[in-house]
Amino acid sequence: MDAAAQQKRLAELISSISHPDLWRPVEEVEQVLATGSIEGTGDPNTEDFLLIDVTGKEILDLGCNVGYYSYLALKRGAKNVVGEDIVPEALEIARILGDKHGCAGAEFRKGSFFTRNGEKHEMVFFLDIIGNNSVREGRAVDQFDAAVRPVGKELVISLRPVFVPERHLANLNGAPPLPQIWAELAQTYGEKYCRGDRFHFLEWAADRLGEGWTITPLPTPEMAHSIRKQIFHIVRTDG
Ligand SMILES: C[S@@+](CC[C@H](N)C(=O)[O-])C[C@H]1O[C@@H](n2cnc3c(N)ncnc32)[C@H](O)[C@@H]1O
Repeated sequence: MDAAAQQKRLAELISSISHPDLWRPVEEVEQVLATGSIEGTGDPNTEDFLLIDVTGKEILDLGCNVGYYSYLALKRGAKNVVGEDIVPEALEIARILGDKHGCAGAEFRKGSFFTRNGEKHEMVFFLDIIGNNSVREGRAVDQFDAAVRPVGKELVISLRPVFVPERHLANLNGAPPLPQIWAELAQTYGEKYCRGDRFHFLEWAADRLGEGWTITPLPTPEMAHSIRKQIFHIVRTDG
């Protein structure tokens, strides 16, 4: 496809999908591709993501959307990236963007992280996927397991370590009254993670992983107790 046709197709794709299927403004990915920097991109967690060394790594970006983190990783020295998502238009946008900017090393393919074939990758990204709704509805359990399954060595994941359900969950669309939310959290994740006015999601995730992993909150250890979404670098220590 020549440059003009590519530009036309990109415009068609952008107008054919909207948030949340088109999760990142295309300009942000363009910015990353053009300069490898995050200047001009709006995600407050990205700066912490940059603290992780991706040099020479083989990466699987689950739920990659238009490839924001895939390209950021390549621009910062990753060996290659496989991006997977269930929205074909987002994947096509990701491919066109890489092509336009001459950024090789990324493959984008359609697939659900729930039904992968067991293939493992050295480093896995699971970024901006586990959100308030999935935690409230209990879908976060299967999502977390799906993030961990393909990990060869390292997982880069974003999640809110500590929830204040009254603040973070009670006002969500379709949420039941607060006492029921607490009952469901206790039933899905366990009573021991529900203490005072807080639900300790990172503690649950750490127990779910079990022995043989280290969990590093970024940018500082205190972020393990944060009530804001943070990036975590999780590394297998058992082989
Ligand atoms: C909130 S967006 C985050 C996108 C990207 N990780 C980023 O930070 O720019 C979540 C993405 O996960 C994708 N997704 C949702 N369920 C999925 C599934 N079962 N398998 C693969 N991707 C999925 C969505 O299509 C969407 O692109």
